[in-house]
Amino acid sequence: MDVISVNGVVTPASEARISPLDRGFLYGDSVYETIRTYNGLPFRLDAHLDRLRRSAGAIGIDPARTPVDPRTAVQEAIGRGGFDESAIRVILSRGEGAIGYDDAACGPPTLVVHVRACPPIPEAWRREGVDVAVVAVRRNAAAALDPAIKSSNLLNNLLAWRAGRSLGVYEPILLDADGNLTEGASSNLFLVREGTLLTPALEIGILRGITRDAVLDLARAHDLTAEEAVLPAPALAGADEAFLTSTLKGVLPIRRVDGWPVREGRPGPVTRRLAALYEELAQEETKTGAVPGAMRR
Ligand code: PDD
Repeated sequence: MDVISVNGVVTPASEARISPLDRGFLYGDSVYETIRTYNGLPFRLDAHLDRLRRSAGAIGIDPARTPVDPRTAVQEAIGRGGFDESAIRVILSRGEGAIGYDDAACGPPTLVVHVRACPPIPEAWRREGVDVAVVAVRRNAAAALDPAIKSSNLLNNLLAWRAGRSLGVYEPILLDADGNLTEGASSNLFLVREGTLLTPALEIGILRGITRDAVLDLARAHDLTAEEAVLPAPALAGADEAFLTSTLKGVLPIRRVDGWPVREGRPGPVTRRLAALYEELAQEETKTGAVPGAMRR
């Protein structure tokens, strides 16, 4: 059964309660992380907790005021969940306050940790890839709600996802206002062109994915040329290979873009190699508990 920790109190998910006046509920005034375990241990927990702190800081939530230590709450909730492998969502909201934007009397922040069994990615998706489509919904501009902040204010992503679903694809791809590739609704995007690994640059306005960082590090450590670049929309349809990355997806090949096959609709060699290297890294790091210095960000 899924478990939820609210400010350190762990209950079955069905019994967990937060106030309707919590700003996370009222305004999406909260930040979050999705983490998963390998070998029962959270992979790159430090990186996730660092990003949670950065996201909180960016919207003026003071993580030091959280009633419980997020690391302790995550570890305790994983233990109570008791799953072989867990998917963990950590939500840090500004806390309870009066109706209205003024947050002066708000708080302390509410920390919610949800733990469930890690949803498996079907083997066929890893082997054959998934379909994506560029949707009409654009990624919000960095000068509006910066996508670098992992905020729970996810309507932009949600609308893109619904647009993708109506096209029958697994993941929608969002462009920025200028028509450049940004990312998926809940994943980063990679292309391979003439042997070079390409991914939209952070400056374009995307989330700096922890999987994205790991894949870039792996590529460079294995002598692949990897570039972060401004990539116009047609670069995706014209790519030799393409894949998505995220904590829950790992490295997931793209089979078709807007209905057209990428590389005859079969995952290419670079994608397959990076997928294997990423899986190996996650297994190794959690088996030994060691984080190789060169891989650390
Ligand atoms: N999503 N871009 C967006 C918009 C995301 O929501 C995510 C993650 C990523 C990949 O980040 P990472 O590699 O750190 O997981 C990129 C998580 C998994 C989610 O929405 O649950």
